[in-house]
Amino acid sequence: MAKSSSYTSKEPDANGFIHYTDEENQVWNELINGQLSLLKGSVCQEYIDALDIMDFPHDRIPQLHEVSQALMDHTGWSVAPVPALIDFTSFFKLLANRQFPAATFIRRKEDMGYLQEPDIFHEIFGHTPLLTDYRFAAFTEAYGKAGLAADKKDHAMLARLFWFTVEFGLINSADGLRSYGAGIVSSPGELVYALESDTPDRRPFDVLDALRTPYRIDIYQPVYFTLDSFDTLFELAQMDLIPLVNQARKMGMHAPTYPLKATA
Ligand code: CO
Repeated sequence: MAKSSSYTSKEPDANGFIHYTDEENQVWNELINGQLSLLKGSVCQEYIDALDIMDFPHDRIPQLHEVSQALMDHTGWSVAPVPALIDFTSFFKLLANRQFPAATFIRRKEDMGYLQEPDIFHEIFGHTPLLTDYRFAAFTEAYGKAGLAADKKDHAMLARLFWFTVEFGLINSADGLRSYGAGIVSSPGELVYALESDTPDRRPFDVLDALRTPYRIDIYQPVYFTLDSFDTLFELAQMDLIPLVNQARKMGMHAPTYPLKATA
Protein backbone atom coordinates (compact mmCIF):
# COMPACT_ATOMS: atom_id res chain seq x y z
CA MET A 1 0.00 0.00 0.00
CA ALA A 2 1.48 3.34 -1.03
CA LYS A 3 1.96 5.85 1.78
CA SER A 4 0.82 8.86 -0.19
CA SER A 5 -0.97 9.44 -3.42
CA SER A 6 -1.11 12.08 -6.11
CA TYR A 7 -4.57 10.77 -6.96
CA THR A 8 -7.90 11.23 -5.20
CA SER A 9 -10.90 8.97 -5.58
CA LYS A 10 -13.91 10.54 -7.29
CA GLU A 11 -17.01 10.88 -5.15
CA PRO A 12 -20.27 9.35 -6.37
CA ASP A 13 -23.17 11.83 -6.67
CA ALA A 14 -26.43 11.50 -4.70
CA ASN A 15 -27.56 8.72 -7.05
CA GLY A 16 -24.32 6.80 -6.68
CA PHE A 17 -23.20 7.83 -10.16
CA ILE A 18 -19.57 8.79 -10.71
CA HIS A 19 -18.94 11.40 -13.39
CA TYR A 20 -15.85 10.81 -15.50
CA THR A 21 -14.43 13.18 -18.09
CA ASP A 22 -14.02 12.25 -21.75
CA GLU A 23 -10.29 12.02 -21.16
CA GLU A 24 -10.76 9.61 -18.27
CA ASN A 25 -13.09 7.43 -20.32
CA GLN A 26 -10.49 7.53 -23.09
CA VAL A 27 -7.82 6.18 -20.71
CA TRP A 28 -10.14 3.28 -19.80
CA ASN A 29 -10.79 2.65 -23.51
CA GLU A 30 -7.06 2.51 -24.30
CA LEU A 31 -6.29 0.32 -21.31
CA ILE A 32 -9.06 -2.20 -21.89
CA ASN A 33 -8.37 -2.50 -25.62
CA GLY A 34 -4.66 -2.89 -24.97
CA GLN A 35 -5.09 -5.53 -22.27
CA LEU A 36 -7.70 -7.50 -24.21
CA SER A 37 -5.25 -7.78 -27.10
CA LEU A 38 -2.65 -9.31 -24.76
CA LEU A 39 -4.80 -11.72 -22.76
CA LYS A 40 -4.74 -14.74 -25.04
CA GLY A 41 -2.01 -17.09 -23.90
CA SER A 42 -1.25 -14.82 -20.93
CA VAL A 43 -4.11 -15.19 -18.49
CA CYS A 44 -5.97 -18.24 -17.25
CA GLN A 45 -9.18 -19.44 -18.87
CA GLU A 46 -11.16 -18.82 -15.67
CA TYR A 47 -10.35 -15.11 -15.92
CA ILE A 48 -11.24 -14.98 -19.64
CA ASP A 49 -14.57 -16.72 -18.96
CA ALA A 50 -15.19 -14.30 -16.10
CA LEU A 51 -14.55 -11.32 -18.38
CA ASP A 52 -17.36 -12.57 -20.61
CA ILE A 53 -19.65 -12.58 -17.60
CA MET A 54 -18.64 -9.04 -16.61
CA ASP A 55 -19.06 -7.71 -20.16
CA PHE A 56 -17.36 -4.37 -19.40
CA PRO A 57 -18.04 -1.43 -21.68
CA HIS A 58 -15.04 -0.39 -23.77
CA ASP A 59 -15.89 3.24 -24.41
CA ARG A 60 -16.37 4.37 -20.81
CA ILE A 61 -15.53 3.50 -17.24
CA PRO A 62 -18.28 1.22 -15.91
CA GLN A 63 -20.36 2.43 -12.99
CA LEU A 64 -19.88 0.46 -9.77
CA HIS A 65 -23.53 -0.59 -9.60
CA GLU A 66 -23.22 -2.26 -13.00
CA VAL A 67 -20.20 -4.23 -11.82
CA SER A 68 -21.90 -5.08 -8.54
CA GLN A 69 -24.93 -6.44 -10.35
CA ALA A 70 -22.86 -8.94 -12.30
CA LEU A 71 -21.04 -10.06 -9.15
CA MET A 72 -24.20 -10.23 -7.08
CA ASP A 73 -25.79 -12.57 -9.61
CA HIS A 74 -22.94 -15.03 -9.28
CA THR A 75 -21.38 -14.95 -5.83
CA GLY A 76 -23.16 -12.23 -3.87
CA TRP A 77 -20.22 -9.81 -4.04
CA SER A 78 -20.40 -6.10 -4.75
CA VAL A 79 -17.97 -3.23 -5.22
CA ALA A 80 -17.68 -0.44 -2.66
CA PRO A 81 -16.19 2.97 -3.51
CA VAL A 82 -13.30 3.91 -1.21
CA PRO A 83 -10.67 6.67 -1.00
CA ALA A 84 -7.37 5.89 -2.74
CA LEU A 85 -5.92 4.42 0.46
CA ILE A 86 -7.72 2.66 3.28
CA ASP A 87 -6.47 1.08 6.48
CA PHE A 88 -6.17 -2.67 6.97
CA THR A 89 -9.20 -2.98 9.25
CA SER A 90 -11.55 -1.25 6.78
CA PHE A 91 -10.10 -3.38 4.01
CA PHE A 92 -10.60 -6.66 5.87
CA LYS A 93 -14.08 -5.65 6.99
CA LEU A 94 -15.22 -4.97 3.43
CA LEU A 95 -13.84 -8.27 2.13
CA ALA A 96 -15.40 -10.19 5.00
CA ASN A 97 -18.75 -8.69 3.91
CA ARG A 98 -18.16 -9.62 0.27
CA GLN A 99 -17.55 -6.05 -0.76
CA PHE A 100 -14.53 -5.32 -2.87
CA PRO A 101 -13.06 -1.88 -2.14
CA ALA A 102 -12.48 0.14 -5.30
CA ALA A 103 -10.61 3.41 -5.59
CA THR A 104 -12.59 5.33 -8.19
CA PHE A 105 -9.94 7.49 -9.91
CA ILE A 106 -8.27 6.40 -13.12
CA ARG A 107 -4.57 6.76 -13.92
CA ARG A 108 -3.27 9.62 -16.03
CA LYS A 109 -1.87 8.98 -19.49
CA GLU A 110 1.73 9.26 -18.25
CA ASP A 111 1.07 6.39 -15.79
CA MET A 112 -0.36 4.04 -18.38
CA GLY A 113 2.17 1.21 -17.99
CA TYR A 114 2.42 0.76 -14.27
CA LEU A 115 0.93 2.49 -11.29
CA GLN A 116 1.78 1.66 -7.69
CA GLU A 117 -1.62 2.81 -6.52
CA PRO A 118 -4.68 0.83 -7.45
CA ASP A 119 -6.88 2.81 -9.85
CA ILE A 120 -10.33 1.89 -11.09
CA PHE A 121 -8.95 0.05 -14.09
CA HIS A 122 -6.93 -2.15 -11.74
CA GLU A 123 -9.85 -2.63 -9.35
CA ILE A 124 -12.52 -3.40 -11.93
CA PHE A 125 -10.69 -5.01 -14.81
CA GLY A 126 -8.08 -6.66 -12.59
CA HIS A 127 -10.01 -7.71 -9.52
CA THR A 128 -13.69 -8.10 -10.11
CA PRO A 129 -13.92 -10.77 -12.85
CA LEU A 130 -12.53 -13.63 -10.75
CA LEU A 131 -14.89 -12.73 -7.93
CA THR A 132 -17.52 -14.49 -10.05
CA ASP A 133 -15.58 -17.75 -9.46
CA TYR A 134 -16.93 -19.35 -6.27
CA ARG A 135 -13.48 -20.61 -5.23
CA PHE A 136 -11.78 -17.28 -5.65
CA ALA A 137 -14.70 -15.47 -4.03
CA ALA A 138 -14.67 -17.83 -1.04
CA PHE A 139 -10.95 -17.33 -0.55
CA THR A 140 -11.23 -13.54 -0.70
CA GLU A 141 -14.05 -13.54 1.85
CA ALA A 142 -12.19 -15.94 4.16
CA TYR A 143 -9.12 -13.77 3.85
CA GLY A 144 -11.08 -10.73 5.03
CA LYS A 145 -12.43 -12.69 8.00
CA ALA A 146 -8.94 -13.90 8.89
CA GLY A 147 -7.74 -10.31 8.73
CA LEU A 148 -10.40 -9.23 11.21
CA ALA A 149 -9.51 -12.11 13.54
CA ALA A 150 -5.76 -11.58 13.29
CA ASP A 151 -3.62 -9.60 15.67
CA LYS A 152 -2.66 -6.19 14.31
CA LYS A 153 1.00 -7.19 14.25
CA ASP A 154 0.17 -9.89 11.70
CA HIS A 155 -1.56 -7.61 9.21
CA ALA A 156 1.59 -7.11 7.16
CA MET A 157 2.07 -10.87 7.00
CA LEU A 158 -1.48 -11.39 5.77
CA ALA A 159 -0.92 -8.66 3.21
CA ARG A 160 1.79 -10.85 1.69
CA LEU A 161 -0.65 -13.73 1.18
CA PHE A 162 -3.02 -11.39 -0.65
CA TRP A 163 -0.14 -9.96 -2.65
CA PHE A 164 1.15 -13.31 -3.88
CA THR A 165 -2.31 -14.63 -4.81
CA VAL A 166 -5.03 -12.08 -5.52
CA GLU A 167 -2.61 -9.38 -6.70
CA PHE A 168 0.27 -11.19 -8.39
CA GLY A 169 -0.63 -14.86 -8.62
CA LEU A 170 0.28 -17.21 -11.45
CA ILE A 171 -1.45 -20.51 -12.19
CA ASN A 172 -0.53 -23.64 -14.12
CA SER A 173 -2.94 -24.76 -16.82
CA ALA A 174 -3.08 -27.53 -19.39
CA ASP A 175 -1.81 -24.95 -21.89
CA GLY A 176 1.06 -23.73 -19.72
CA LEU A 177 1.72 -21.03 -17.16
CA ARG A 178 -0.86 -18.25 -16.94
CA SER A 179 -1.48 -15.14 -14.84
CA TYR A 180 -4.53 -14.45 -12.70
CA GLY A 181 -3.38 -11.76 -10.25
CA ALA A 182 -5.08 -8.38 -10.66
CA GLY A 183 -1.78 -6.51 -10.53
CA ILE A 184 -0.58 -8.45 -13.54
CA VAL A 185 -3.73 -8.57 -15.64
CA SER A 186 -4.23 -4.80 -15.26
CA SER A 187 -0.62 -3.93 -16.15
CA PRO A 188 0.36 -3.79 -19.83
CA GLY A 189 4.03 -4.31 -19.01
CA GLU A 190 3.81 -6.90 -16.26
CA LEU A 191 1.40 -9.09 -18.22
CA VAL A 192 4.27 -9.91 -20.57
CA TYR A 193 7.06 -9.80 -17.99
CA ALA A 194 5.40 -12.14 -15.48
CA LEU A 195 5.38 -15.06 -17.89
CA GLU A 196 8.24 -14.31 -20.25
CA SER A 197 11.05 -12.61 -18.35
CA ASP A 198 13.98 -14.69 -17.08
CA THR A 199 14.42 -12.31 -14.16
CA PRO A 200 11.73 -13.29 -11.63
CA ASP A 201 11.75 -16.33 -9.43
CA ARG A 202 8.59 -18.42 -9.97
CA ARG A 203 7.85 -20.71 -7.05
CA PRO A 204 5.11 -23.29 -6.47
CA PHE A 205 2.48 -21.75 -4.19
CA ASP A 206 2.85 -22.63 -0.55
CA VAL A 207 0.83 -20.68 1.95
CA LEU A 208 3.57 -20.52 4.59
CA ASP A 209 6.17 -19.43 2.05
CA ALA A 210 3.85 -16.74 0.71
CA LEU A 211 3.24 -15.41 4.23
CA ARG A 212 7.00 -15.27 4.84
CA THR A 213 8.21 -13.72 1.58
CA PRO A 214 8.84 -9.96 1.36
CA TYR A 215 7.65 -8.05 -1.69
CA ARG A 216 8.11 -4.73 -3.42
CA ILE A 217 5.39 -2.49 -4.71
CA ASP A 218 7.49 -0.21 -6.90
CA ILE A 219 8.88 -2.60 -9.54
CA TYR A 220 7.77 -5.63 -11.50
CA GLN A 221 7.72 -8.55 -9.09
CA PRO A 222 10.97 -10.39 -8.37
CA VAL A 223 9.00 -13.39 -7.03
CA TYR A 224 5.75 -15.01 -8.16
CA PHE A 225 3.93 -17.96 -6.62
CA THR A 226 2.20 -20.42 -8.94
CA LEU A 227 -1.00 -22.27 -8.07
CA ASP A 228 -1.91 -25.60 -9.64
CA SER A 229 -5.60 -24.84 -9.36
CA PHE A 230 -8.03 -22.41 -7.73
CA ASP A 231 -9.08 -25.44 -5.69
CA THR A 232 -6.05 -24.66 -3.53
CA LEU A 233 -7.54 -21.26 -2.66
CA PHE A 234 -10.92 -22.85 -2.00
CA GLU A 235 -9.29 -25.33 0.39
CA LEU A 236 -7.58 -22.45 2.19
CA ALA A 237 -10.95 -20.73 2.47
CA GLN A 238 -12.24 -23.71 4.49
CA MET A 239 -9.30 -23.55 6.91
CA ASP A 240 -8.58 -21.33 9.87
CA LEU A 241 -5.79 -19.11 8.57
CA ILE A 242 -4.76 -17.81 11.99
CA PRO A 243 -2.75 -20.91 13.03
CA LEU A 244 -0.92 -20.68 9.70
CA VAL A 245 -0.13 -17.03 10.36
CA ASN A 246 1.16 -17.96 13.82
CA GLN A 247 3.30 -20.70 12.36
CA ALA A 248 4.70 -18.41 9.66
CA ARG A 249 5.55 -15.76 12.27
CA LYS A 250 7.43 -18.33 14.37
CA MET A 251 9.35 -19.53 11.33
CA GLY A 252 10.34 -15.95 10.50
CA MET A 253 10.64 -14.00 7.29
CA HIS A 254 12.48 -15.40 4.31
CA ALA A 255 15.63 -13.48 3.51
CA PRO A 256 14.94 -11.33 0.46
CA THR A 257 16.66 -12.44 -2.74
CA TYR A 258 16.61 -8.86 -4.11
CA PRO A 259 17.33 -5.37 -2.77
CA LEU A 260 14.75 -4.37 -0.20
CA LYS A 261 13.54 -0.93 -1.10
CA ALA A 262 9.98 0.16 -0.43
CA THR A 263 9.06 -3.29 0.80
CA ALA A 264 5.97 -4.18 2.71
CO1 CO B 1 -5.29 -4.70 -6.19
